[in-house]
Amino acid sequence: MRKVIIAGNWKMNKETESAVSLVRELKTEVRDITDREIVVCPPFTLLGEVKKNLCDSNIFLGGQNMFWEKEGAYTGEISPLMLKDAGCKYVIIGHSERRAYFGETNESVNKKVKTAFCYDFIPIVCIGETLAQREKGEAFGVVEKQLREGLADLKVEDFSKLVVAYEPVWAIGTGKTATPLQAEEIHKFIREILESIFEGKSEEIRILYGGSIKPENISDLMSCQNIDGGLIGGASLSADNFIKIIKFI
Ligand code: 13P
Repeated sequence: MRKVIIAGNWKMNKETESAVSLVRELKTEVRDITDREIVVCPPFTLLGEVKKNLCDSNIFLGGQNMFWEKEGAYTGEISPLMLKDAGCKYVIIGHSERRAYFGETNESVNKKVKTAFCYDFIPIVCIGETLAQREKGEAFGVVEKQLREGLADLKVEDFSKLVVAYEPVWAIGTGKTATPLQAEEIHKFIREILESIFEGKSEEIRILYGGSIKPENISDLMSCQNIDGGLIGGASLSADNFIKIIKFI
């Protein structure tokens, strides 16, 4: 049985006051939930404050990105040791915004995933096609390449800890969610590819959907066999919406 993950990616949003009030409300409202893993991924500047406010809670902390070196002259980067020190258990890797604006490639994703496992993080590895790629019928090919190259040469013992997030770029922040049918079609395909890479382990790997998830569409998406949770952007910035999404039935 794969445990559902509901993760909020705050992206480049929030300062201390609104972050603290969000996580305080969240902590109280979800404290009895044990059958879902709840994760928040604030910007780096807020990790310390959020961690402090989440102590003794069932909510985990995640980073939005991480460099593959442990320390050194890499101005502006964040290292695995720093994320560990800040209390992160998860780290988002290869988000489409990082691929589009900051030159992330399947190769850099691969280095980061290996580093994440090396430091005992749970990596949430993002993949997904653009609208142009989907319209040209390339969605499956793009996703397969991202998986095969981004997840190359991992250690057997790490396979089942991996989390993949399918986030079609055309559905991110656009209000256009993939229909459950569209999402399940790709999620099923992703699991088949994972099976061909990690023989016998694909049933243990969680595959999250991301892209305009809201309280109104989470239940339908979660009813799909191969959707094991959500990576939520905009709707995770409001305590009310994020709590409703976490508590979907
Ligand atoms: P939205 O939920 O705002 O579409 O963002 C999805 C996403 O990119 C999460 O990582």
